[in-house]
Amino acid sequence: MMVEFDGIVLDYSRQQATVDTVDKLYNLAEAAHLQEKIHRMFNGERINSTENRSVLHVALRAPRNAVINSDGKNVVPDVWNVLDKIKEFSERVRNGSWVGATGKPLTNVIAIGIGGSFLGPLFVHTALQTDPEASRFAKGRQLQFLANVDPIDVAKNIAGLSPETTLVVVVSKTFTTAETMLNARTLRAWISKELGPSAVAKHMVAVSTNLTLVEKFGIDPNNAFAFWDWVGGRYSVCSAVGVLPLSLQYGFSIVEKFLKGASSIDQHFSSASFEKNIPVLLGLLSVWNVSFLGYPARAILPYSQALEKFAPHIQQVSMESNGKGVSIDGVPLPFETGEIDFGEPGTNGQHSFYQLIHQGRVIPCDFIGVVKSQQPVYLEGEVVNNHDELMSNFFAQPDALAYGKTAEQLQKENVQQHLIPHKTFSGNRPSLCILLSSLDAYRIGQLLAIYEHRVAVQGFIWGINSFDQWGVELGKSLATQVRKQLNASRTKGEPVEGFNFSTTTMLTRYLE
Ligand code: F6P
Repeated sequence: MMVEFDGIVLDYSRQQATVDTVDKLYNLAEAAHLQEKIHRMFNGERINSTENRSVLHVALRAPRNAVINSDGKNVVPDVWNVLDKIKEFSERVRNGSWVGATGKPLTNVIAIGIGGSFLGPLFVHTALQTDPEASRFAKGRQLQFLANVDPIDVAKNIAGLSPETTLVVVVSKTFTTAETMLNARTLRAWISKELGPSAVAKHMVAVSTNLTLVEKFGIDPNNAFAFWDWVGGRYSVCSAVGVLPLSLQYGFSIVEKFLKGASSIDQHFSSASFEKNIPVLLGLLSVWNVSFLGYPARAILPYSQALEKFAPHIQQVSMESNGKGVSIDGVPLPFETGEIDFGEPGTNGQHSFYQLIHQGRVIPCDFIGVVKSQQPVYLEGEVVNNHDELMSNFFAQPDALAYGKTAEQLQKENVQQHLIPHKTFSGNRPSLCILLSSLDAYRIGQLLAIYEHRVAVQGFIWGINSFDQWGVELGKSLATQVRKQLNASRTKGEPVEGFNFSTTTMLTRYLE
């Protein structure tokens, strides 16, 4: 129960699944027409039926000479036009030929965006930050992300920065997201106040599918980097959403390496047999854990500090994609879909929530380890260096979960009788291990694509639409109603009206 592909080893022998179970899961995949659905995705069919869109994030990392059609048109040349434009622009900013309004180089970048326009780029940035190759290219540069509309996040982002040396990248697929647009207006005011309104042209650029709104906002369309409605927000890190800020920070060549890593998994996913296909195996096992064994959660546990933002990114990719209540045809599902994803890097998580995983609820775990650390070890002479110590835990935890510890073993160790129930570990707790040979831009791209495709496999088996997100709309429209009320109360003194008792009371208290 181990498969290998291009520097990645997946060991799923500690799942609660026998060879026979896995065979049955392959049958399930066949019954659910998994291969055909994967093919339809790569073929640019409009599989996101509720939004009438294709799902083609794989085209974002396809080689220049690839042909991937959407509505009979090869989209790869458009992808590469934008990539070429990003390469040129990021090189100009990095080499100082594109400067700010006062002639100073733009060494700081603030990327404004939220959800899919933030989490993926943050994950990749955090993972590249400590990669020696990538960080060499980032010398003297700083990349930050402004996501939350909270004034605290604004204050944290602009603290210590001067607009003179700052480039703001507004990232929003729709260019209507309330939080992002308010933050964009805030930073536009920050720039204008210090440098005058004309400076905005030099200090603000945008990434969006809605170039009309970009222009309306006051950003020169020549300084806008497009993507397309066939890229879902949470699948957009390989579009200009991630490529622009990351190229500004690390240079285009590093980002190209990242795209190549993701593309290698796309190839693997679309061509390998199910038995050897890492995303397919992961997806099937997740379906097994959620739908057959009834485990509602999944812990993502990377044993690399560089991957500290991986779980938050996958949280959105997975939970926004597969947290659905109806089938793709709109029929209520007779089973639960999606899982509650959470995680922290090891070993930090061990000192936090692993207690529950070992002796409380059963939570299938993904352990992700790296053979060669990004960083040299400080104490060279130590027999077990920092990385070995980290990896000792990576290897030990899955066995602790799988085998547990019995009362008999504890008795042999002369543990006091009254402590035996407390020190017993039931074992048979499922996990899987993913071992990466290294963690550079290429592997980071691979890891991303593995998890993206795993989520798609789960959705294909469950028969849901993993590519829409109607569940985020209701909260947004209620917030609009509250926003209107706050405005009316503040500007015209209007009383709070039209809300239930609880909200009315709380809103009134807030306005007081
Ligand atoms: O509210 C959820 C969501 O629609 C995500 O799917 C998306 O990634 C995020 O908001 C941001 O949207 P946009 O890129 O359009 O600003």
